[in-house]
Amino acid sequence: MENQLSRRDFLKRSGGIAVGVGAATAAAPAAQAAEHGRATLPYQPKAIGKARTMQTNAAISFTFPDAASPCNVIKMGSPVPGGVGPGKDIVAYSTLCTHMGCPVAYDAGKKTFNCGCHFSMFDAEKGGQMICGQATENLPRIVLNYNESSDTVTAVAVEGLIYGRQANVL
Ligand code: FES
Repeated sequence: MENQLSRRDFLKRSGGIAVGVGAATAAAPAAQAAEHGRATLPYQPKAIGKARTMQTNAAISFTFPDAASPCNVIKMGSPVPGGVGPGKDIVAYSTLCTHMGCPVAYDAGKKTFNCGCHFSMFDAEKGGQMICGQATENLPRIVLNYNESSDTVTAVAVEGLIYGRQANVL
């Protein structure tokens, strides 16, 4: 009699197992995405401008890590996390929305990237952090290096998976 489970106990225990398996399988794609979007892939560095000649709070377009990946670089005007250059204020992001890949546009008034498709917003001063909308991921951040002697800002890597890709480097 002790080995027999009541129907109620059986359902409780099997439900627990199902939830455990579900959580493990849900975590796998997220881990895979992080792996393919990591900053240590073999990126080809690309010079994208001179820090001292960049206009403050104006988005400049470039592509990285290849021609199919549009990005913006912005000199914010005050130091921000991840910022490079003399003022530690230059940051760059992919401009493909992480929800469904629509182009995002920089709003200089709010210092956000806004998506016109389903109205997601991302904070340019906080690492591309998602503020609101349909997206669930931050904008991929372009990792920048600054060479003081030449005043050159160079894109060297991407943090986060660019929309529509299985890996940032094709
Ligand atoms: Fe940007 Fe949907 S594609 S919010």
